[in-house]
This record gives sequence, C-alpha cells and structure tokens, in this order.
Amino acid sequence: MAGDKQTWLESQAEFYCHKLQEGREVFDTGPYATMIRGEWLRFIKNFMFDGAAILDVGCGDGWQSRWLAEQGAGRVVALDLTPGFIVRARSLTPAHLLDKITYVCCAVEDYRSEPTFDVVVMKDVFEHLFEPQKAMETIADLITESSIVLIETCNRRRLRNTLWRLVGRSKISPAHFREYTPGELTEILQESGFAVDEMVGLGFLPGLGRLRKGHEQLFALDLWLGQNVPGLAGGIMAACKKAQVG
Ligand SMILES: C[S@@+](CC[C@H](N)C(=O)[O-])C[C@H]1O[C@@H](n2cnc3c(N)ncnc32)[C@H](O)[C@@H]1O
Repeated sequence: MAGDKQTWLESQAEFYCHKLQEGREVFDTGPYATMIRGEWLRFIKNFMFDGAAILDVGCGDGWQSRWLAEQGAGRVVALDLTPGFIVRARSLTPAHLLDKITYVCCAVEDYRSEPTFDVVVMKDVFEHLFEPQKAMETIADLITESSIVLIETCNRRRLRNTLWRLVGRSKISPAHFREYTPGELTEILQESGFAVDEMVGLGFLPGLGRLRKGHEQLFALDLWLGQNVPGLAGGIMAACKKAQVG
C-alpha cells in the first residue's frame, strides 16, 4: 500500500495507464457488468432533472458522463486523475455532446470550482480514495444544500470477501485503497458533513461476471438478494446530501 497521498495518486494513474497502453478493455463489458451498470443508472435517474449541472468524479472513459449528457443534463464536468482516461473519454465523445461535457484531469481532492453542481456521481471511485473524508469535504464546497451526491462502491463484507475470509484469505484489488461496509460508509459520510438519504445493496452472488448470455433469471435473483440482504451485497449505492446545520 502506498505510503503517502502523492505516491498513491500516481500509482492509481499508472495502474490504469498501463491497462490502457496494453489496449485491453479496462472495464468489464459482459452481460453481468452491463446489468449492474443498468441498475445503477436506474438508481441515479431518480435524482436527475433536465438542465442539471453534474460532476462525474473518477469518470474513467466517460461512458456515464455521455449518458448523463444524452439524458438532458445541462452540463457535465467529467473529472479523472488518469490522463489516459481523459484523452480516451474526449475521443469517445460525439460532436453534439462536446459543448455539454468538460473534461478535467485532476484528483478530486484538488478540484476547485463554484458551488454550482446539482448532482455529483461517484461510481466505483470511493474505494480508490486515499483521503475519502477530504474528497467529500471538497465535494461539499462544490454543491448547495439541495444538491445530491450519488455513490456506488463495493461492499467490504460482500459474500465473496466473507467466503475468502472464512478460509483465511483476502482478495482486494491493488487499485483499491480501502473498501467499506454499509455501516463504515455511512460513518465516513457523516464525519464528512453528509446525511445519508438512501442506501441500497447492489448484486450479490460471486462469479456471475464470468457468465455470458442467457442467465436473466439468475441475474434477477442476484439483484433481489442484493436489495434484500444488503449487509452481504456486492456493492452499495448511496444517495446523500449535506447535513443541515442547527
Ligand atoms: C474503477 S474506475 C471507475 C471509472 C468510472 N466511474 C466507471 O464506473 O467506469 C476508478 C476511477 O477513479 C479514478 N480515480 C481514482 N482516484 C481518484 C481521485 N482521487 N480523483 C479523481 N479520480 C480518481 C481512476 O483514475 C479511475 O478512472
């Protein structure tokens, strides 16, 4: 694990730049990953409105920013610390969306702007943060009291991790700085000045990412289990707002 923030941020960018240089698909685009993405998009759609100003933190190749811009966002700032992702995200953006999306290569902790964002999305980013509290405090300065922050992150106690722990093993991605249980996520959000409005489990059964087409019923069961047994769910989706003072 990295010894200091700068080393960690550099190792993050290197991790992804390396994958990009190899020309491989960096993110899984199989049927299960697509279903999980779809479920997340359904979740965030509940908080969207036409003309919203959106910050996409850790935008990766920008797929979500493009989707948001197509859905009627007024403007999207897509921010990522990995230069290769910003280059790729820009190159994947169709001409009619270029006016709406601004790409910024920066660590979220260092980003400064007026407090004008209505919605902040952070998909698969929280577990990568060296200083999550500082990141959330920075985000708090970029939003208003009525803005919403939508987070999706893996659950430290997901069934797969729990099974590994039973046999005395641990398998955490080297790109993850720290993973959280739903309780730990709530705690860190509260410590950063946020109140959690909603928290939902996402996905459940390990190994489904390996399946190809034709497993819709199993995927539906997986979603149901994630929602109904959130403590062991694969991921956590959370909606939070700045806590009211006084
Ligand atoms: C697992 S990827 C998720 C990308 C995208 N949100 C998605 O769902 O496809 C994590 C992303 O977070 C970025 N990242 C990690 N730490 C960051 C930080 N402190 N500030 C901004 N981006 C960061 C990485 O460069 C990477 O693109």
